[in-house]
Amino acid sequence: MTVNLESLLQDRLAPALEAVAGHPVDPAVRSSPHADFQSGAPLALARELGRPPREIAAEVAALAEAELAGVAEIAVSGPGFLNLTVSDKLLTASLRELAIDGRLGVPVAAAPRRVVIDYSGPNVAKEMHVGHLRSTIIGDALARMLAWLGHDVVRVNHLGDWGTPFGMLVEHLLDSGGDAEHSISDLTAFYQAARVKFDTDDDFRTRARLRVVALQSGDPRSRELWRTLVAQSERYFLDVYERLGVTLGPDDFAGESRYQDDLDAIVAELGEKGLLTESDGALCAFPAGFTGRDGVPLPLIVRKADGGYGYAATDLAAIRHRAGTLGGQRLLYVVGNPQQVHFAMVFAVARAAGWLPDGVSAEHIGFGSILGADGKMLKTRAGDTVKLAALLDEAVLRASAPTIGIGAIKYADLSGDRRGDYVFDLDRMLAITGNTGPYLQMAYARICSIFRKAGSEPDPAAVTEQALTAGRLEPALTVARPGCEPAVVEPAERALAITLLGFEAAVTAAAGQAEPHRLAVYLHDLAQAFSVFYERCPVLRAGPDVRGSRLGLAALTARTLHTGLFLLGIAAPEEI
Ligand code: ARG
Repeated sequence: MTVNLESLLQDRLAPALEAVAGHPVDPAVRSSPHADFQSGAPLALARELGRPPREIAAEVAALAEAELAGVAEIAVSGPGFLNLTVSDKLLTASLRELAIDGRLGVPVAAAPRRVVIDYSGPNVAKEMHVGHLRSTIIGDALARMLAWLGHDVVRVNHLGDWGTPFGMLVEHLLDSGGDAEHSISDLTAFYQAARVKFDTDDDFRTRARLRVVALQSGDPRSRELWRTLVAQSERYFLDVYERLGVTLGPDDFAGESRYQDDLDAIVAELGEKGLLTESDGALCAFPAGFTGRDGVPLPLIVRKADGGYGYAATDLAAIRHRAGTLGGQRLLYVVGNPQQVHFAMVFAVARAAGWLPDGVSAEHIGFGSILGADGKMLKTRAGDTVKLAALLDEAVLRASAPTIGIGAIKYADLSGDRRGDYVFDLDRMLAITGNTGPYLQMAYARICSIFRKAGSEPDPAAVTEQALTAGRLEPALTVARPGCEPAVVEPAERALAITLLGFEAAVTAAAGQAEPHRLAVYLHDLAQAFSVFYERCPVLRAGPDVRGSRLGLAALTARTLHTGLFLLGIAAPEEI
């Protein structure tokens, strides 16, 4: 079934355009405030054909009329646009298909892919900061959308659980009696205390260095203490995920330590393939096309001069594992913009090494920073980095309910292009008007209340009930009741119907381009279209013939909002 009107109209328009242009032309049909849909294709052809665009448009319109019969009216407008007005009959028929479709017109991917999504990635014995918040929220929205589209999603939480700081942390844990549960209930304080000792106490520093060596060579006692630290941190991160309503679970942790045994092989393989160069004692790869400001080739340091491995080596081992062992076909890395060059270089080296065969894509899903009111990086009044838990606490405190506070933060993060920075402004995020989470949650709750008032008509549960099992979703959407088939007559009903039918395009674009804001913006448009409809078209007070159809439109809107918010990871309570 296709209810995608845009693509239906494109298909019907294409032959006429091709006939006039003499070659295939993209009909570029878009929804428009001037008609239901509009095509600017004649304008784009004018120069090539050396003809006035209105004349081209008129010829295309005349040719397309037969193809469009029963589907849409076509008319030339303005300097040479084609306006398309979809027939009420087609709109009604398409809506009814949606109403009985549990997936709201979104087909399951014909060619499902295994998609490995690297997100969250906090560091052990450190608090999560706002950068991790963005990765967690964006990554989870992508995981939800791609899973719902039928892809085989593998969540990977690339925990920072390895490296030199662990010498110092383990040693400090030993000094504090070895009981992690007690001594690191406050992770940041624990980390900072270890750091101070490391910087001021020569004896401690020496012990910490020896401890790193012991840890890396597998000394059982060192490993055991390290594991306690990791476990303690994991518990803390899982708490945060639960609070955030994020689908990352205990099985998704795959920290940097997992790849340590692969690192010698990575160096050996890269060496055999001639991809390593020695530079000041370090082993580096110099992927083509990466140069610094002065034109000097940039190194990706695979093994440091002291023989140790760093962040890049681990990411090389990880990518080999994800494309190879895990069989990933699309690899996503949801990590802040500053790591853009790092990932581009890792991908280039992996490609050259043959670890990323053709057909396997690797994408860095970068994102901007969260800024304070002063437009600078978000800091506490004392100038420290802001802790995630503190932000969430404040939002929940200021909102009427935790779901509203958390939803507000998540929606604010997801509703703008992820690549950009945004200002953390709780007043704006929590506002019930504007492009905010609470506005959308309110829109959904309002429709549920219409159904409560409607009494014996479809109960709200029938509209919204979804089996959202432990977040590992498959929303089993309940389909609208008989007697409430939607229909369109009034302009506000038409506008709402056209928006409802755009859900599939919004989800597909958001998942395909890894841009959750495309779905967020869509949901906001939908809530607005509903509010215009509700203002102009009485539902409960309407006559018996119209009432059912309007309830049907309301039910469809509720399901679409609920599903869309769910795919973004935002709760939609029935009452606020
Ligand atoms: N732990 C890293 C950080 O806090 C993020 C990890 C991102 N993932 C990766 N495969 N490098 O910056």
